[in-house]
Amino acid sequence: MSATASAATAVRAPGALPVLGHLGPFLASPLGFLRSLAALGDLVEVQLAHQRVLVVCEPTLTRELLTHDRAFDKGGPLYERMRELAGNGLATCPAADHRRQRRLIQPTFHRSRLPLYARTMTDRIEAGLTGWQPGQRIDLVAELRSMAADILLSTVFGAALKPQTCDSLAADLQEIMSAIPRRAVLPALLNNLPTPANLRYRKAHRRARGNMAELVRRLRTDPADGLFGALLGGYDPQAGDRPFTDTELVDQAVTMYAGGTETTVGAVCWALFQAARNPEAGQRLTEECRSALGSRAAEWDDLARLPYSRQVLLEAIRLNPPGWLVTRTATSDAQLGRHRIPAGTTLAYSPYLLGRLTDQYPNPDRFDPDRWSADGPGGRGPAAAFGGGARQCIGEEFSLAEGVLMLASVCARWQLRIPPDGLRQPRLPGLTLNPLHLYATVTPVSAPRP
Ligand code: HEM
Repeated sequence: MSATASAATAVRAPGALPVLGHLGPFLASPLGFLRSLAALGDLVEVQLAHQRVLVVCEPTLTRELLTHDRAFDKGGPLYERMRELAGNGLATCPAADHRRQRRLIQPTFHRSRLPLYARTMTDRIEAGLTGWQPGQRIDLVAELRSMAADILLSTVFGAALKPQTCDSLAADLQEIMSAIPRRAVLPALLNNLPTPANLRYRKAHRRARGNMAELVRRLRTDPADGLFGALLGGYDPQAGDRPFTDTELVDQAVTMYAGGTETTVGAVCWALFQAARNPEAGQRLTEECRSALGSRAAEWDDLARLPYSRQVLLEAIRLNPPGWLVTRTATSDAQLGRHRIPAGTTLAYSPYLLGRLTDQYPNPDRFDPDRWSADGPGGRGPAAAFGGGARQCIGEEFSLAEGVLMLASVCARWQLRIPPDGLRQPRLPGLTLNPLHLYATVTPVSAPRP
């Protein structure tokens, strides 16, 4: 069979228009559109204007895609846009560069370091929560973002940034990450026009990398015992390695900062939102946190006493996975399940789509943390929410520990009332599914409810 003919085994999604293909339904409701593909087959072809993408709609096939990371390498429209921000960092480099980078960076995330990191997490969470006042209306997204940034910088980077630099970075990354999916499907010509949105994007981009370059200059002279110590000291000239350039170090810094803040923030925000909207689960969560912690912030040793909190976090990640759409490119003619995939094909997997499959998660729209109980049907966690294979998320255990510590510390102390308009979402999801804002009024748990 010729490559082109055999690729036809992927079912083509109906309703494509000339030129635009499925761009209309995708832009109108990206999540609804993705979800509709699952009924069509395990591999579905969609046309987003000029780009043809095969969307993997089944968990076993997704695992196969992720396991063969050389045949299905980083690439495709999303990665091309992400590389504009994160260059050749760990998340966006091709397989050929990946093993060396991962080997150098992995020790920073080794399980044995987590108890130490957790001490910083507890301190920063405690400091963040101390400012909350009974009856105050709080934007949880902003509060958790500032805690997560502080935690990431102090642990992984072993550094601190001035508060204004942190605010500027957070705003710039939000601007960039919210624009990436839109820029990935629009033709380059439109992305390059001097429109206000494009100019804002470019400015945010320059400023974010500039701020990171400043941090890298500081870390070069005083790398601390973190990521930069490992990157600067870990090259071996005997093995033909060369030291990382400043640009490469900025790539890694941006990668970790962007990958390590917004993801956890989104997961914890959605967990708090769901707990507030589902009184039974919310009550169980509060009781667990209250009985494990009283009203103090959670510590590493508490994690074993917070199993339901972890279940709530995993269920929130299933329903709103921070990485909801991820692309790959076939580097040569390859086989994926029963499908022949020609070299150059763009493929995509979607933890969002997989998390809503009825045969995997009965009643998939229901928030049910018991899917993840020790004897529940869920297994380790939502399918592919942290990727898989050699490119599996390096921060998975870090973020689950951080997420549970944040969630439990908030719930041990505060009841959240989220008004009907408290959840503000962007019209189009960005690179993550994070809300723009999540407003809640907080009252102390022990106080009688109004
Ligand atoms: C709820 C939290 C998180 C989720 C759901 C998540 C999700 C993911 C996913 C789906 C991937 C694979 C992307 C692909 O297949 O192309 C990934 C990779 C990655 N993540 Fe995370 N992530 C989370 C937290 C974090 C944190 C806290 C950090 C850093 C501190 C981090 C850093 C990275 C990096 C560097 C990669 C690339 C790994 C490699 O290619 O070797 N992530 N993440």
